[in-house]
Amino acid sequence: MYNTRIFHTTPLPQEPTGLQQAAQLLHDGELVAIPTETVYGLAANALREESVQRIYEVKGRPSNNPLIVHISDLSELEPLTTSVPASAYRLAERYWPGPLTLVLPKSELISPTISGGLDTVAVRMPAHPIARELIRLSGCPLAAPSANLSGKPSPTTVQHVLEDFDGKIAAIVDGGDCTIGVESTVLSLHTHPPRLLRPGGVTLAQLEEVLSEVEVDRAVLSRLEKGATASSPGMLHKHYAPVTRLVLLQGSSEDFAAFLNSKADKVGALCFDEDIPLLRVPFVSYGTPRCPETLAHRIFDALREIDRLGVETVYAHCPSADGIGLAVYNRLLRAADFQIQKV
Ligand code: TXA
Ligand code: MG
Repeated sequence: MYNTRIFHTTPLPQEPTGLQQAAQLLHDGELVAIPTETVYGLAANALREESVQRIYEVKGRPSNNPLIVHISDLSELEPLTTSVPASAYRLAERYWPGPLTLVLPKSELISPTISGGLDTVAVRMPAHPIARELIRLSGCPLAAPSANLSGKPSPTTVQHVLEDFDGKIAAIVDGGDCTIGVESTVLSLHTHPPRLLRPGGVTLAQLEEVLSEVEVDRAVLSRLEKGATASSPGMLHKHYAPVTRLVLLQGSSEDFAAFLNSKADKVGALCFDEDIPLLRVPFVSYGTPRCPETLAHRIFDALREIDRLGVETVYAHCPSADGIGLAVYNRLLRAADFQIQKV
């Protein structure tokens, strides 16, 4: 049991000491939740085997689901891999630091615990300045999955991290609310052509600006049959799920509201801002499809919020699956265990 410390990085005068203490804890092998531009990460020294193992224990994460290794400078990439293709440098130049994770052949520095037994490693350089400063100060690459209990929605605020890990980890660094709100894009450069394993903060169109061809893994938009091997093991597991039963609905605001208002049983809505005036059931709104970035920014908080509506089933208004909307749609599909209907 820990007395989980919270290091506030604002106001500024406290910043150097808080970050230095958090970096020391990381260096010494403790788990510290850190802010990134996508979601909060549950970080540990990637070079300390017992610390990496503790990540899996504390999250309740299946051991075959590998972790992303975070770096603060491009010079830290090569030691983690056996070869870095030219395409990785082109992507890094354009999108690092930022919400893009590259899967490359792993070097011996990466333990099978981090790689979930695969022969590859996923690497990302986060855009959040606090995350990079912590990596620099701790002097080691940081293994960091999203800082949520396995299966639960990813955390975008310190409060979300506390809900899942208060008393279970040494510290949380408070970097404010995460700006993007969905996790990084995971792209494998280990396959030809490169394959999108998880849509995220960098869109498919942005990847195609740098790469001539990108294949979208079929696990992005559909459920894999039992026993199928996943290119990205994380896509196999039920994910991001609220306790309340969730079903996705595709249709206009009018049809979405009419469907919900006609239901006799206890239902609620995970809706767009535009739907609010039409609804006569409890709701949580998650932004507007006119600005899909708002949907990404709010989706995980909204998925936690719907459990407070006190209803049996929540129907979510489905976003269109393009741009950053593809990432939101991918997370909602998993949160709803692929239950989707047209209205
Ligand atoms: O934005 C993010 O990526 C956040 C922040 C904290 O950086 N991290 C994050 O980590 O989302 P996590 O563990 O929640 O998701 C990592 C995903 C999983 O789906 C995992 O299966 C996949 O990346 N992954 C990790 N290493 C892989 C590898 N070697 N090959 C294929 N997929 C891999
Ligand atoms: Mg996660």
